[in-house]
Amino acid sequence: MTAGAQPALYAVVGNPVGHSLSPRIHASFAKQTGQALSYEAIELPLDGFVNGIRDLQQRGFAGVNVTVPFKREAWQLCDSLSHRAELAGAVNTLSFNLDGSIGGDNTDGIGLVRDLVDNLEVEINGRQLLVLGAGGAVRGVLGPLLDRSPARLILANRTAQKAEQLADDFSRYGTIGALPFDALAGQSFDLIINGTAAGLNNEIPPIPGSIVGANTACYDMMYDLSAPTAFVAWAQDQGAARAVDGLGMLVEQAAEAFSIWRGVGPDTLHVITALRNG
Ligand code: ATR
Repeated sequence: MTAGAQPALYAVVGNPVGHSLSPRIHASFAKQTGQALSYEAIELPLDGFVNGIRDLQQRGFAGVNVTVPFKREAWQLCDSLSHRAELAGAVNTLSFNLDGSIGGDNTDGIGLVRDLVDNLEVEINGRQLLVLGAGGAVRGVLGPLLDRSPARLILANRTAQKAEQLADDFSRYGTIGALPFDALAGQSFDLIINGTAAGLNNEIPPIPGSIVGANTACYDMMYDLSAPTAFVAWAQDQGAARAVDGLGMLVEQAAEAFSIWRGVGPDTLHVITALRNG
């Protein structure tokens, strides 16, 4: 840092956002890469997203991450979008440009893929994937998952039509289809990703345990630092080869945002380990 230089200002906005790990993650990236920046968590009123963002722009912020429930509104607000954000229909990374325009990106999908492929060494290319859920979180990761050319990606969702619609929307990007939960018995998958919100109520989607084989990896896009998530615990009970929660995805999506803003990619593994160890 040059003596006297003002740190660049960043934040994560959401509602609620008080328990966000993002300030800790970005502080760690900044220290590691010698970047002068501040990063705080800011709760915006549910009906005050656009005003809140304009206010941060005026106060000289350089960019913000956007979390629940504002990712869709952020997508609508942007003046320009990356291709992956356009496909995702949601934005989690805003860059405030000097000309007053706002650029939007979505780093969730690449965060998931990097955690799977680079950190956990779970192969996607040529493999059979099952993705549970068909809401915003799943839409956000389908593009980057299909980019890795799985042999087949099946979507299963409580409301079957939503899975069918989503599979249709992404059919030009890879081999993707939809099945109802009760049609999964007898199928086998190399990787099962839980992208439903069922874990918020400590529930798991109603999928047959028989689809988890001894070589199946299970990944929950949610994370919990204090205990295995409901889906991870269920996968362990079924004898899954791996059962991992989404802490690594959180850190990897943050690293991609950091790299967009600062032009330097931080090391993520020791940040994941530090968070996991408290
Ligand atoms: P998000 O942004 O987290 O994806 P969302 O768009 O509201 O939130 O989507 C929530 C997803 O979790 C949906 O796929 C939802 O299934 P429906 O489309 O049938 O509503 C799924 N979901 C939520 N609670 C669930 C539960 N208890 N069991 C199974 N699926 C659940």
